[in-house]
Amino acid sequence: MSILIDRIIKDHEHLTRLLVCLDREISKYKEGATRQPRLSVIIDALDYLHNYPDSFHHPLESRLLAKLRPRITDAGLRQKLEAIEEQHVEIYQLTNNLIDRFQSIQNDQIVPVDKLLADYQRYAELQINHIKMENIFMIPAMKKLLTEEDVAAVKSALNGNPDPLFGAHLWDAYEDLYQFVVGTEQEQVAV
Ligand SMILES: [Fe+2]
Ligand SMILES: [Fe+2]
Repeated sequence: MSILIDRIIKDHEHLTRLLVCLDREISKYKEGATRQPRLSVIIDALDYLHNYPDSFHHPLESRLLAKLRPRITDAGLRQKLEAIEEQHVEIYQLTNNLIDRFQSIQNDQIVPVDKLLADYQRYAELQINHIKMENIFMIPAMKKLLTEEDVAAVKSALNGNPDPLFGAHLWDAYEDLYQFVVGTEQEQVAV
C-alpha cells in the first residue's frame, strides 16, 4: 500500500485518540464534574488539531483527491468526496473558533459554559464524522483507483514544496505535541 495512504490511516488513528483525550478534558466543564479541566492540555490539543491537519493532513488528502476525482464514475461517491472537502473548511473554522474561546478563558474573560459545550459537541461530532466518511468512502476509493503514478506525483509535489510546514521539522514538532497530549491521558488513567 502507498506510504501516503498509510500515513492518512495512521493520522486518523492519532486524531481519534486525541479527540477522545480532548473530550475527557472538556467534559470536566459539565455540571457535577469532580475534576478541574486542564486548560493547557485543551489548548495544546486544539493547537495540534488546528495546525497538523490544516498544514499537512488535509492538504495531502486534497492533493490525492484531486488525482482521484477524474477517475470516479459513481455520482454518489463524487458527492461524498465533495462533502469531505467542504468539511475541511468547516473544521478549520470551528477549530479556530474554539481556540479563541479557550484563549478567552485563559485570559480570565467570561465565556458562557453551555454555549461552549454545545459548540464543542458540534465540533467533536463533525471531526469524528469526517474521519468516518474518509475511512469508509475516500480511503477505499484511493486504494482502488489511484495509480502508482498518481501517488508518485503527489509525493514529489510534497517533497518539492518549499513551504516549511511540509518539512520534517514541523512533522516532528507535532508528533512531540501529540505524544505529550496523549501521554497526559495515560497519566490521568494511571492516577
Ligand atoms: Fe480530511
Ligand atoms: Fe483525514
